[in-house]
Order: sequence, then C-alpha cells, then structure tokens
Amino acid sequence: MKADLKATQQAVELITGGWRAQALYTSVKLGLPDHIEAGLTTTAELAAASGAEEEGIRRLMRLLVAMGVFEGGERAGYRNTPVSATLLNRPESLRDMCLLYGEEFYTAWGHAHEAIRTVTAGFEAAYGQPLYAYLSQDEDASDRFQRAMKAGNLFFDWVPEIFDFSGGKLVVDVGGGGGQLLAAILGATPDARGSWLDREHVVPIARENLAATVGLDRVELTGGDMFKAVPRGGDVYLLCRVLAGWDDDAVVGVFENCRRAMAGPSSRLLILERVVADEDSTVLPALWDLHLLMTNGGRHRSLDRFTTLLDRAGLDVERVAELPVETTALIAAPRP
Ligand SMILES: C[S@@+](CC[C@H](N)C(=O)[O-])C[C@H]1O[C@@H](n2cnc3c(N)ncnc32)[C@H](O)[C@@H]1O
Repeated sequence: MKADLKATQQAVELITGGWRAQALYTSVKLGLPDHIEAGLTTTAELAAASGAEEEGIRRLMRLLVAMGVFEGGERAGYRNTPVSATLLNRPESLRDMCLLYGEEFYTAWGHAHEAIRTVTAGFEAAYGQPLYAYLSQDEDASDRFQRAMKAGNLFFDWVPEIFDFSGGKLVVDVGGGGGQLLAAILGATPDARGSWLDREHVVPIARENLAATVGLDRVELTGGDMFKAVPRGGDVYLLCRVLAGWDDDAVVGVFENCRRAMAGPSSRLLILERVVADEDSTVLPALWDLHLLMTNGGRHRSLDRFTTLLDRAGLDVERVAELPVETTALIAAPRP
C-alpha cells in the first residue's frame, strides 16, 4: 500500500515544529530583524553585526525566507516582512515572548513527556525550582517575563468596555504584574483609583510603568502574597491571568481573600482568563493549557470549573463577557 503523502507531510511538519521555533528564536537572539530594519541586508553585514559566522547566517536565513519570516535572499538582500516586523525591538513587540519561549520555556517543554505523564511542571524538572522562585532570583529573566506578558496584553484596552469602573471606584489588581492592565483601566476611567498587589520583586517594574502612564498619585503599590491577604476596601478586584498556575484549593483561597477584603455587597470580582472547553476545543486554548503545565504545573479551567470554585468561596457568577484574543471575563458577586 502506498504511503498517504499528505498525512506524512502533515506529520513531518508537526515533528519539525520545534526546529522552526528555534530557528526563529535564533534570528531574534542575533537581532536579525533589527539589523535588517537598520539597513543591513547582506549575509556579510548581518554576520558582522550579530557576531555570527557568515555560513551560519546564510543557512539560517535560507530557512527563514522559505518559512516566510523574511524576504529576499543572498543576491537581492534580505528584507523584513510583516511577520519579522512583529519581532523588532520596540514596544508592543513579540520579541521578548520569542526569547523567553526559545530559552526557559523551550527547555521546560523539553520535559513534556515527564510533565504530562506525572502532571507536574516541566520547568521544575528542568530548573529544579518553580518558575516564580526562579524569576525572583534572576532580574533579567523577570524583566523578560514581564515584557513577554505584555505581548498578550492586547485585550486590556477592551476591559473598560465590558465593566463600568467609574464613580470613584477603588480597583484592586491582584497579581498585577507590570501594571499595564491597571494603567489601561485608570487611563480610561479618570475618577477611578487603583491598588496593585504582586510579589516584592515585581514592585519596581510596576512602579516604573504606572509612574510613566497614570502617575503614582492614583495608585497604591503593595509587595505581598495574595494567598495571605489582598488590599482591603476594593470596589472591584481583578485577577488577570494569575490563577492558572495554582491548584483548586489555592484558587479558592485567593477568591476568599478577595471576598473578605471587599468594600461591600456591590463590590465585584473580575477574573480575566482563557477559558478552555473540555470538548471540541480550538488549538490555541488547548496549547496554552499544556504550556501552563510545562511552565508552572498550571492549567486553564472551564467555565463550570470556575463557577464551582467561586461558589466554594461564596461568590456567584453574575455575567460572562468575551474579550479579544480568546480571553474571557467572569464577573462575580459576593453572595448576600
Ligand atoms: C502571568 S502573570 C500576570 C500578570 C498580570 N496580571 C497580567 O495579566 O499581565 C502572574 C502574576 O502573578 C504574580 N504572583 C505569583 N504569585 C503571587 C502571589 N503569591 N501573590 C501575588 N502575586 C503573585 C506574579 O508575580 C505575576 O506577576
């Protein structure tokens, strides 16, 4: 029986997917999109600017042109495409995401078999410690992680459209990371005030971002642990992309801390997460779900699962709203 050529080709493309990601990562690590943008277009120029051998650059660029990342070639000179332009070293770029995914997270995925077999973090198997402990000890990696998170911030500007933050509300962002979500909300809601909580080592990053955007007079920053306590008196509590790394009991603990700290019955909890369907999922949410397992042993949850966990903490889902890039907002109210 003849081989099914189409299926074989599809399988080979999947098998070599990791190579493609590493080739792309290497071009970013060598700064090739930026060198091309600066007008260096030949193999010799790119090799000299990136400190690499000409032969290495020639072979790498041959592949990346074939993949549609760059255009042109040895004779005509290389050019950026819209794809490589997303990797340029500038704000809102995917550059840091590409670097983080090509280094620490690629190493974590190298332990996929063990991680999936035992449902434990591939990152821990690779680095001997949990992701957030690693980040707290490595300033460069922590900065890169926060900048990489920014690549997924696309939906932040839509959050003020699905919830009314006006009326002098105090908005508490728990696990607020770089502070960009709070900046987007306070930027769109001039009479709202902000309170930000994250781990101590993230405080300087958020302080810098918030000082440069909404100004520090409207925001209070706290370095702490959401599993112990969250800032009190909030009208709105935000949990944006912070729950996926923790088991159900830990998540219920954070919900309870938010509920206890709320200003009153009209306070709300907003969960902003990718919600995964147990059946008939699309590829991206299922892929991110496994990625969470690799990086911190985490998971994406279904709507039912969130509803059950909120219920355990005395909170009811009041409304569900869809945001861009397959992100969902769950708005929960404290049960009277
Ligand atoms: C994936 S990031 C999301 C950051 C931000 N909410 C966003 O969407 O860009 C998760 C954040 O949770 C923070 N975090 C982890 N453990 C924490 C804890 N015990 N208490 C407070 N924040 C924590 C991390 O430092 C990190 O900034």
